[in-house]
Amino acid sequence: MNEKKYYITTPIYYPSGKLHIGHAYCTVATDAMARYKRLCGYDVMFLTGTDEHGQKIEDKAREAGVTPQQFVDDIVAAPGGVLDLWKLMNISYDRFIRTTDGYHVQAIQRIFKQMYDKGDIYKGAYKGKYCKPCESFWTESQLKDGKCPDCGREVMDAEEEAYFFRASKYAGRVRDLLLNTDFLEPKSRVHEMVNNFIDCEGGLQDLCVSRTSFTWGVPVDFDPGHVVYVWLDALFNYMTALGYQNGQYGDVERFWPADAHFVGKEIVRFHAIYWPAFLMSMELPLPKKVYGHGWLNFNGDKMSKSKGNVVDPHLLSERYGVDALRFFLLRSFPFGSDGNFTNELLIQTINNDLANDLGNLVSRTTAMAEKYFGGVLPEARQADPALDGSLISLASGLRGRYEEQMEKFQFQNALEETFKVIQRANKYIDENAPWALAKDMEANGARLACVLYNLLEAVRVCTVLLTPFMPGSSEKIFAQIGASADAQTWDSAAQWGALPSGVSVSKGENLFPRIDMEKELSELDAIMEEARKDALPELEVEPFIEEHVDFDTFCKSDFRAVKVKSCENVRKSDKLLKFILDDGTGTDRQILSGIAMYYKPEELVGKTLVAIVNLPPRKMMGRESQGMLISAVHTEKGEEVLHLLMVDDAIPAGAKLC
Ligand code: ME8
Repeated sequence: MNEKKYYITTPIYYPSGKLHIGHAYCTVATDAMARYKRLCGYDVMFLTGTDEHGQKIEDKAREAGVTPQQFVDDIVAAPGGVLDLWKLMNISYDRFIRTTDGYHVQAIQRIFKQMYDKGDIYKGAYKGKYCKPCESFWTESQLKDGKCPDCGREVMDAEEEAYFFRASKYAGRVRDLLLNTDFLEPKSRVHEMVNNFIDCEGGLQDLCVSRTSFTWGVPVDFDPGHVVYVWLDALFNYMTALGYQNGQYGDVERFWPADAHFVGKEIVRFHAIYWPAFLMSMELPLPKKVYGHGWLNFNGDKMSKSKGNVVDPHLLSERYGVDALRFFLLRSFPFGSDGNFTNELLIQTINNDLANDLGNLVSRTTAMAEKYFGGVLPEARQADPALDGSLISLASGLRGRYEEQMEKFQFQNALEETFKVIQRANKYIDENAPWALAKDMEANGARLACVLYNLLEAVRVCTVLLTPFMPGSSEKIFAQIGASADAQTWDSAAQWGALPSGVSVSKGENLFPRIDMEKELSELDAIMEEARKDALPELEVEPFIEEHVDFDTFCKSDFRAVKVKSCENVRKSDKLLKFILDDGTGTDRQILSGIAMYYKPEELVGKTLVAIVNLPPRKMMGRESQGMLISAVHTEKGEEVLHLLMVDDAIPAGAKLC
């Protein structure tokens, strides 16, 4: 049996809506790590899944008029759902857990009971603040400006009978774990955790771990009415998915403790404090590492559905290919810090790194091998240390530098090292000018073969190391340079010369076409603007005025039906229309109204409208307006919509409205 084993997890996602690029970010990083470890010869268990309980899901299902189970099934398993997204993005997970899976539910009930029997869970009353979207309880002192410290939204008062987990009992051990081991990384997150949650006033508080105000959760089987707090339910997924306290799987022995939990920065608290405390209570070994990655913002702003600025990974994968998107996510942002996603940066990265550097290197090298040697390089290939030494030594040492970065989860740096070799190889083409050598094949044929061989080798070594990031494209490059399975291995990445001579090389499709930045940006902007509008509420009704108006004051307003005799645009104004109206008095009334963007003047002639006629006359653009036309105004998909109030033709001009 393979003694090298590696267990890595993503957070399990809330299926409360469509997943966005931020979710894909963590999953792609985990996938790259899992593929890297497999490449290194590890037996890998890569777990992902969905966290399906909680009040938020219950509320959303109610709004949608379906059961919570139907609601989550639709987001997880239906076409275009979570499972489809991971398939599209080539995520090589080994196991997918849903917290509504029967085996997990039963295991959670057992765990809860065992903690209760041990005295680590006790019954009390919960009184405090609750953030519904985050499903998090807070004490008054933990709030930031009275709002949820994680998401900044309003919190609500919560009071109910509840079970509590004795987190305080484990505070010292957790503190020690955080301060004196490498359990939590990056290190910058350690002090924030210790200062805010353990060394704070009152110390680490016991955690409320059951709820009675809703039912969509794992029932506490010995106390009907209580459901298990969603975080206790969710965190244990990392163990139940291996078979802990259930008969579904038998992998606990082999894979626990986990080697790495990748989690976003806002859920580090649960993974670095409560998760180890739960495990200590169950007397289980602790995971080796929790890594808190940063957030992807969009154009400097937090991505959120209500702002309509969430980036859709389906859309980007379709436009640029899955590998380009995977590559961009890990190449552009340091994993431990926040990153600013912009469409410009995405296209720039694809154009510079993939089209110009990598794509060009592969297509130039394979095209020359085809052109000068019919796709099969001859044997003679003695390297010249003066001409070839720098490329060969840079490429031969790449695996070591790459490994060092991958082991620290520094994907951006690992790719940076790889691209240094790719850039060096492109420079090597210019230095050696194969097209000039090809002019005299008799004299230079052997040298030309050597140059092309060195280029193919550089491409091969880089491609082996790019496989975890761009599995599909790497496979295509291997086929183009004729690298067989032996020349694609981790060992071979450190062996210069692993590509045998005589392999057949062919210039295949252009893997990374250049994108026209300007055209693409305007198309993306248009698509995102549509999405932004779609995310806005259908109809927005202005808040009602709360202050009362007394009846006599109201009666002083003189509303009349008025018939439009003529209507025209006011010169030099793009807003104003000038109306000449019959108000029943026999004298024409002139009213100016700023509605030119909603109506063409000719549409209104002959219509009967409503005007308030006893306002003091007002000058607008040098013309007098004797009253005001009444309109209905509301906001639809973020845009103001206006309709003039029109009345039946049967109502004569001058009729009083009351
Ligand atoms: O937190 N950039 O689920 P979730 C980077 N169910 N990462 C982002 C992001 C962004 N813009 N937006 C979200 C949960 N994420 C729990 C996890 S684990 C036992 C339970 C990340 O669907 C976020 O940081 O709200 C988190 O790690 C993950 O997506 C899942 O978020």
